[in-house]
Amino acid sequence: MSSAEKDSSTLIKVDDDIKSKTFCIIGNPIEHSLSPLIHNASFSYMQLNYSYIAFRVPAEELEDSVQAMRRIGIAGFNVTIPHKVEITRLLDKLSDEAALANSVNTVKNEKGMLVGYNTDIDGIMEPLEKKISNFEGLEVLILGAGGSCRAALVGLARKKNSIGTISIFNRNQDRLNQVIQLGRNLGLNCIPFDIEDSSNLAKVSKNSNLILNTTSIGLHGEKSPITPDFISKNTTVFDIVYKPITTDLIYNAKIAGSQIIFGYEMLLSQGYKAFELWTGLKAPKEIMKKALFGIFGEPQ
Ligand SMILES: NC(=O)c1ccc[n+]([C@@H]2O[C@H](COP(=O)([O-])OP(=O)(O)OC[C@H]3O[C@@H](n4cnc5c(N)ncnc54)[C@H](OP(=O)(O)O)[C@@H]3O)[C@@H](O)[C@H]2O)c1
Repeated sequence: MSSAEKDSSTLIKVDDDIKSKTFCIIGNPIEHSLSPLIHNASFSYMQLNYSYIAFRVPAEELEDSVQAMRRIGIAGFNVTIPHKVEITRLLDKLSDEAALANSVNTVKNEKGMLVGYNTDIDGIMEPLEKKISNFEGLEVLILGAGGSCRAALVGLARKKNSIGTISIFNRNQDRLNQVIQLGRNLGLNCIPFDIEDSSNLAKVSKNSNLILNTTSIGLHGEKSPITPDFISKNTTVFDIVYKPITTDLIYNAKIAGSQIIFGYEMLLSQGYKAFELWTGLKAPKEIMKKALFGIFGEPQ
C-alpha cells in the first residue's frame, strides 16, 4: 500500500465492528463477471479480511436468495443481469438516484437494513467526464432502454441544463417509451427511435457528439448496427459491453478515428464506487486496474 493511500485510509472513519466480512455478486449468467477479481484484489491490498464470491441466481430464486443473505448478515453485494430492477422491491431502502433509475447494482447492509445504490451511474459518468470536458449542447445517441440506459439518463440529468438532445434507439417499444418518460421526468430532451430504422440511425448517429451503447450487442460477437460510416471523427463512442474488450462498435469507432471509451472503464468506475460505499475507504484504483490487466497493461 502506498503511503498516500495509507494516509487517506486512516483519515476516514470505518464503521467496522466485525473484522471479517463477506461480499458477493448475484446474476444469471455470472461466469463472465470480473467483479470478484477486482474486489478481492482491493480487499487483499488494503489488508481487509474480506472476501467476494460470485453466485448464479436464476430469476425465480432471487427472493429466497435475498432472504438467505439477510439471515447470514452479508456485508454487501452487487447485482447484475437480470435482477437490477426486480431487486428494488426486495430491499429496505433505496438511495435517491437508485430510486430515480429504479435500478440497483450495489447493496450495503447498514445495521441489518439492506440499502440499494446504483454505482452504474458513476460508472458511466466518471469515464465520460474524463473524456468530455464540455457537455454544452452535447448531442447524445443511446442504444438500448434497459437498466444501464436508466443509469445513464440519471447520470446525464446531472448535466441537464447544458446537454442537447438525447436520441434513444431500442427494439422493444414499451421499454423505449418508459425510458423516454424517465428522461423527460428528469428534465432531459429525449426522442424515441426504433433501432431497426437504419436511415434515422445513420442520420442521428452522424450528428451525435456521443454514442453510448447500453445494449448487450457485442457480448457474443454480434455486429453493431452502427457502422464506421455512421460515426463522425469528432464523436466520442462509449460501449459499456466489456467482454470482449474490443467489440464491433469499438472496432468501428477506431476505423472512424473517433474518441473511445471502453466498457472496462465503466466496470472499474462502478467498482471503485461500490468499494468506497462498502468500506468507507478510498478505492485503490491502480490495484483494481492492475488486477484486470495484469502485466500487459491497459489497452489503447
Ligand atoms: N461495463 C460495465 O460495468 C457494465 C455495467 C452494466 C452492464 N453492462 C453490460 O451492458 C449490457 C446491458 O446491461 P443492462 O443491465 O442494461 O441490460 P438490460 O436491462 O437487460 O437491457 C438490455 C438492453 O439491450 C437490448 N438488446 C439486447 N440484445 C439486443 C439485440 N440483439 N438487438 C437489439 N437490442 C438488444 C435490449 O433491448 P429490448 O428492450 O428490445 O429487449 C435492452 O434495451 C450487458 O451486456 C451488460 O453486461 C456493463
